[in-house]
Amino acid sequence: MSSRTYYVTTPIYYVNDVPHIGHAYTSLACDVLARFKRLDGYDVHFLTGTDEHGQKVETAAASAGLSPQAFTDKVSQSFRDLVGKMNFSPDNFIRTTEPRHYKSCQALWEKLVASGDIYLGKYAGWYSVRDETYFVEGETEVGEDGKRRAIPTGAEVSWVEEPSYFFKLSAWADRLLAFYEKNPGFIGPDSRRNEILSFVKGGLQDLSVSRTSFSWGVPVPGDAKHIMYVWLDALTNYITECGYPDTDSPLWKYWPADLHMVGKDIIRFHCVFWPAFLMSAGLAPPRRVFAHGWWTNEGQKMSKSLNNAIYPDELVKAYGLDPVRYFLLREVPFGNDGDFQKRALIGRMNGDLANAYGNLCQRVLSIVAKNCGEKVPPKGALIEADTALLGRAKGLLAAVRSELDEQAFHRALAVIWEVIADANRYVDAQAPWALAKTDPARRDTVLWVLAETIRRVTLLVQPFMPDSTASILDQLGVPAEGRSFASFDSELVSGIGLPKPQGVFPRYVEPKAA
Ligand code: MSP
Repeated sequence: MSSRTYYVTTPIYYVNDVPHIGHAYTSLACDVLARFKRLDGYDVHFLTGTDEHGQKVETAAASAGLSPQAFTDKVSQSFRDLVGKMNFSPDNFIRTTEPRHYKSCQALWEKLVASGDIYLGKYAGWYSVRDETYFVEGETEVGEDGKRRAIPTGAEVSWVEEPSYFFKLSAWADRLLAFYEKNPGFIGPDSRRNEILSFVKGGLQDLSVSRTSFSWGVPVPGDAKHIMYVWLDALTNYITECGYPDTDSPLWKYWPADLHMVGKDIIRFHCVFWPAFLMSAGLAPPRRVFAHGWWTNEGQKMSKSLNNAIYPDELVKAYGLDPVRYFLLREVPFGNDGDFQKRALIGRMNGDLANAYGNLCQRVLSIVAKNCGEKVPPKGALIEADTALLGRAKGLLAAVRSELDEQAFHRALAVIWEVIADANRYVDAQAPWALAKTDPARRDTVLWVLAETIRRVTLLVQPFMPDSTASILDQLGVPAEGRSFASFDSELVSGIGLPKPQGVFPRYVEPKAA
């Protein structure tokens, strides 16, 4: 196993609702990174799971007429099922109701107490159950309907007044700023980094970290009337997985995490609270947090009340899994908000997949099958046009690696598709079908150059579209052990027998109305 570790996490999902495309998006981004790093020789640990405590889940369970445990067992399963439906490849699925997690949260709490960062007080202020977040008066407003809402999120707030333990977050502002300064790559994209810097520079208030008015959570050690604030509990999942508090655990080698992938709505918890908790406990903060944007549906915010959430199952059924995976990461610059439009998805399917990539594979593989005895053709002397195309394909690994290290999925795909376009132009210019009679040796070389270019491109597309690329690599005769990036610089071996080619990316045809 490689000594280079890579630990990537999704947020753990609230189990108050079934998963929609927004949830699938965060996990998909992590899945692509985990797959890429595995192919690139890293010892990867990819974690996802569910966030099962708190008032929101307690309330959702009560309205479903179930105990919180029975309710969370049920909804957590739907997130586990999503893993299979979307072909995600996590190494583990964590639930905050597991005993190991209680132990980890309580151990972390005791460290915070030992550092002098926890004190008992009384909380009086606004709380949004939907966001599981405290708001100060100035962050709320009363709407025309007479209801008070949090301005940043639009969620209803209610007045909470109860004894509470506090974490001395106010004392951490300078140390956090020094940490951000020293670690410029800690928050991505830059716009989010600026947002966090100005928030912390504005001064921090102590954070209420326990509740007494309900009971669905992890008990505070030594004072069981209190349960831990759900965000302290939830964030801790990332170290529970690594064996905390047992730092001799074999999984502890993964800490600090290389990347916490989150949506833009939960960046403050990950970039302010979490590093402060960790530093207070004497633990290293994660190396990077990246916040992606939000999807809307044909211009509208997705919500339960508008009944317009997009569900991954429905999309996959209509368009196929790999096209959906491709579209979500190609269409919108990662980090920006995006509007989901069927028209755009169909455009990508027919343009990028069927016409560009699919057609390239189909043209080349079918000429090879017809003319080269169902074998990888022989490679003759190369001319400049050949080495130019091969060189561009070869340069892709470094380019994609650096784009993905910045979570720029859209740019990684764009550079790969530039080479696909180059290869299609090369097919037209070299016209291998015309060479059949005049110069069969040159035709073979042209086909070899194309097959080799498809091999390189396809190795890099694997993390995005695992099933389709497996089929293309089968058709090119690339063995399973030749599919990691360690084989990127090797070459297709002439003479290897090839199976009958099959189309991989069909054009989307609108189903006929019944
Ligand atoms: N439980 C917390 C996370 C705790 S992590 C220690 C939580 N859960 S969530 O289920 O509400 O959201 C999980 C993720 O889904 C977030 O990253 C959020 O940004 C993402 N999305 C939810 N709706 C979304 C869209 N409409 N579009 C894109 N992502 C969205 O927050």
